Amino acid sequence: MPVHIIVGAQWGDEGKGKVVDMLSEHADIVARYQGGANAGHTVCIGDKTYVLHLIPSGIFHQHITCVIGNGVVIDPVALMSEIDQLQKAGIDIKGRLLISHNAHLIMPYHKMLDTIREKSANSIGTTGRGIGPAYIDKFMRVGIRIVDLLDRDILAQKLKANIEEKNQILTKVYGETKMDVDAIIAEYQEFDKSIDEYITDTSLYLNSALKEGKRIIAEGAQGALLDVDHGTYPFVTSSNPTSGGACTGLGIPPTYVDSITGIVKAYSTRVGNGPFPTELLNDTGEKLRRIGHEFGATTGRPRRCGWFDAVALRYSATVNGIQQIVITKLDVLDEFDEMRICVGYEVGGKKLKSFPTDVKTLESVTPVYERFEGWKTPISGVREFADLPLATRRYLNAMAELTGTRIHIISVGPRRDQTLYAR
Ligand code: GDP
Ligand code: IMO
Ligand code: MG
Repeated sequence: MPVHIIVGAQWGDEGKGKVVDMLSEHADIVARYQGGANAGHTVCIGDKTYVLHLIPSGIFHQHITCVIGNGVVIDPVALMSEIDQLQKAGIDIKGRLLISHNAHLIMPYHKMLDTIREKSANSIGTTGRGIGPAYIDKFMRVGIRIVDLLDRDILAQKLKANIEEKNQILTKVYGETKMDVDAIIAEYQEFDKSIDEYITDTSLYLNSALKEGKRIIAEGAQGALLDVDHGTYPFVTSSNPTSGGACTGLGIPPTYVDSITGIVKAYSTRVGNGPFPTELLNDTGEKLRRIGHEFGATTGRPRRCGWFDAVALRYSATVNGIQQIVITKLDVLDEFDEMRICVGYEVGGKKLKSFPTDVKTLESVTPVYERFEGWKTPISGVREFADLPLATRRYLNAMAELTGTRIHIISVGPRRDQTLYAR
């Protein structure tokens, strides 16, 4: 049963890119199962840094085949530009990238509607990449899929119907100008030439690979607390980053899933709006942002920073079925005299029994903290768990115990070698 699911266990940006790249050494296929170019997955190899938005983070290993599954929403402009940049950097993509014929496309009107809706009072703080509107069309059953790019007539027909409807909304609801139907059709009809070689039935491909005993890493984007069903709705993305999304987003049965690994940052961050109980709106939060370089890999926005939240992680571990965790960015805490971990939530003096996913309650909770002594020494050069300072090991053990998880790997820097395995 060789499918290994990698999920972001918090609000995204946990370091999935680094971990997936590292684990790819022992895999055959890396497959992205949801989200779109809202993701920004960073991989550092030597002195080079790459940020991937749609292409799976296994691409830097020549033996890996990368798959973009049916659950992903693909902006063909963003995809082609990413392929181009990787090729220019000397990464060989030929024959190593497969795109699901069933994946839905992000069109210019999705990005436009996303940006316009964000100007309203109910802003989510989206990445503006058209993610929500593209998933709306998918579930409305008017979406345009990757396979449609291969038939110019069908593409023109579907685009025309969509743009005419969107033009009504743009002009009548939002008072914007109309989009040019013919110009968009002409631009997108050209994608058949560039994208054709990558398109296939990826569900069929993955299922055959599984029968041959190939090892697949299912790479999630975003994080569990941004899940449209299980996250802090409505301040979420429009897909299912939780582990269940891997099966529907790739077309593989749950019976093949061998392990579920949660990627966990040693503290918390969140980009965009929505409740964040342990947020630090003070110098300590600023220090985390500065040392952790907490600025969005996709939009460059400053990430909101706060203490590690064991209540949120316990919830995330439950809905994902996380068996083991990878703790990242532990080195960012090197200079802190003291850290705190949120071990409970209180509302009106009463302790909550579980993580509330309704925004009103989550916004009103008071976190209960436990304090931990800082280690005040650089740990980026440490490679053995036993060589970590005692205070570091105490902090790590608390993270595992308080969340009911087991630590598998610890990351102490962005590079591949800055990694250690727990005992
Ligand atoms: P992703 O979206 O989960 O892939 O994470 P991002 O790439 O958006 O953000 C993680 C950032 O932290 C990137 O800049 C990584 O290079 C960096 N990073 C990953 N692991 C570590 C680590 O252990 N220590 C430090 N200091 N940086 C890390
Ligand atoms: P990776 O894969 C962090 C956030 C946005 C916003 C909300 C909805 O790099 O971890 P959307 O554009 O998806 O409609 O925005 O979700 N968001 C992310 N935050 N990391 C991401 O991806 C994110 N992708 C979306 O900031 O709050
Ligand atoms: Mg990211």
